[in-house]
Amino acid sequence: MPDNEATLEIQHLIREFKPADGDLMGALHAVQHHYGYVPKMALKVVARQLRLSEAKVYGAATFYSEFRLTPPPETLIGWCSGLACRLENGHGIRKALETELGVGMGENTADNKVGLHFAQCNGTCEYAPQVWVNGRVVGSLTAASTVKLVRELKK
Ligand code: FES
Repeated sequence: MPDNEATLEIQHLIREFKPADGDLMGALHAVQHHYGYVPKMALKVVARQLRLSEAKVYGAATFYSEFRLTPPPETLIGWCSGLACRLENGHGIRKALETELGVGMGENTADNKVGLHFAQCNGTCEYAPQVWVNGRVVGSLTAASTVKLVRELKK
C-alpha cells in the first residue's frame, strides 16, 4: 500500500498502539475520535500497524455499534424503540420516518444530510412517541407531524 498523506496521518494517530489484538479497539477509537468515523482506508492502516488481518479489523469495526464507517450525517434522528413509544404508535412514526426519508433504519440519505438510527428509552416517556434530533427530544409525534419534521430537516 503506498503511503499517501492520509495514510501517514492515520499512522501517526495510532503510532502508540502495538501489534496485538488488545490494542484493536483503542486504535479504532483513536481514528474515529479524529475523523468522526472510521474511513475504510484506515482499516488497512490499523491492520498493518497491529499486524492483524484486514478481515479481523473490519469485523471489529462493523460488529461494535459504536464505530461508524461513513461520515456522520448533518442531522441524526434517533427513533425511540422503547415500550412506551411503541405503545403510542412508535412503529407508525418509524414508518413515516423511513418513507419520508427514503432510507431504512441505520441508514443516511444519499446526500448525507439526515440519518436514522435506533435509540433507547431515556426515561422521558411522557413525550412518547418521540425521536431525538441531534439529541434534542421531539415528542408527542403523529404521523403527520413526523412527515412535517422530516421535510423541514431535509431543506
Ligand atoms: S419509551 Fe420512548 S422515551 Fe421512553
